[in-house]
Amino acid sequence: MSRLAACCCLAWLLLLRPGNVSGAITPGAVWFDNRGQQIQAHGGGILKVDDTFFWFGEDRSQGLDPNKRYVSCYASKDLEHWTFRDQVLKLSDPENFGPGWLIERPKVFYNAATKKYVLYAHVDDGTYKLARVGIAISDTVDGNYRYLKSFRPLGLESRDIGQFIDDDGTAYLIFESRPTKGFVIARLSPDYLNVEKQMSLVPAPLEGGAVVHYKGLYYVIGSHLTGWSPNPNVYATATSLEGPWTEFKNIAPPALKTYNSQSSTLLRIIGTKTTSVIFMADQWKPKELWDSRYLWMPLQIDGGQLLLPEPRPWTIDINTGEAKY
Ligand code: DGJ
Repeated sequence: MSRLAACCCLAWLLLLRPGNVSGAITPGAVWFDNRGQQIQAHGGGILKVDDTFFWFGEDRSQGLDPNKRYVSCYASKDLEHWTFRDQVLKLSDPENFGPGWLIERPKVFYNAATKKYVLYAHVDDGTYKLARVGIAISDTVDGNYRYLKSFRPLGLESRDIGQFIDDDGTAYLIFESRPTKGFVIARLSPDYLNVEKQMSLVPAPLEGGAVVHYKGLYYVIGSHLTGWSPNPNVYATATSLEGPWTEFKNIAPPALKTYNSQSSTLLRIIGTKTTSVIFMADQWKPKELWDSRYLWMPLQIDGGQLLLPEPRPWTIDINTGEAKY
C-alpha cells in the first residue's frame, strides 16, 4: 500500500471512530450513555452522593419541545460509564422571560439540613440582559426538580455560574458579573435558597468559573468572554477564598485556545493513594449545540502551578484516585 493510501486509511479510521476508546475517557469524542445516546450534559457539574457521581447539564438534544428548556442527569460510579437517569428539569418559560429564554450551566447542591437537592442555573432572556440565577429543588437527586424563583445574587448581574463546596461542607456559587468585570465567589444561605455573602470579587473579566481546593490552596479557573468561541483559559490561586488572588496565568499554550474548550467544573477525586483534579470543559458547537463535546482531562497541579496536559485518552481508579494517560 502506498504511503498516501495508508494515510487515507488512517484518516478514515479516525473519522469513523465512534466515541470513547473502550476503557478510557476520550476528550472530544462522542460520549455515549447506557442507551447508546450521545450524553447531553453541557455546561455541567457533578454532585457525588455516596459512591455515585451525578452529572447534570444542559440537554440540547434535537427534537425537544422548543418552548421548554431541559436539564439532564446521568449517574456513574467510575466517571466513564454513564447511565441516563432523567431529564430532571423540563421547564416552560416560568416567569415570562420571553422568546429565546434560556437555562445554562446547571449545578446541583445537596443541603444536609433541609434534605433538599437545590439546582442553580443561569436563567436569562434571549439577549442575555436579565442576568439572573434560577433555583429549582427536589427531594431526590434525580427526581423532578420544581422551579422556585429567579434573582440576581447579591443584586448583581449573574451569567455563567459555577459551584464550589469547601472541605467543611460550605457551599459557594461562582458567578460572572458585569459591569464590575470580575467573577464573584459567594456563600449560599443555610438553606441554599439564597446567596448571602460575597467572599471575593476575582478581579478579571472571566466566565466559566470553577474553583478547587488542593493541598491548602484555592485554584480558580475561568475563560475570557468570547461567547461560544474558545480562548486561552486562565487560573489564579489564593490561600483563602477571600483572596488575595495571584495574577492569572494560562492553563495551556495560549495559541491552542484550551484545546478548543471552555471551563465548566473542577472535580476533585480523593483516593486512598492520591488526589486527582479533573478539568471538565465544553467544546461548543454553537450551530449544533447537541453535538458539543466534552473535554475532561486530569490536571497537572501542585505548589500553585496548574497545567492542562494535551488531551488524550485517560483512565482513573476512583478508589486510589490515580489517573493515567
Ligand atoms: C459563553 C458562556 O460560557 C456559555 O455558557 C454561553 O452563555 C455562551 N457564552 C453564549 O454565547
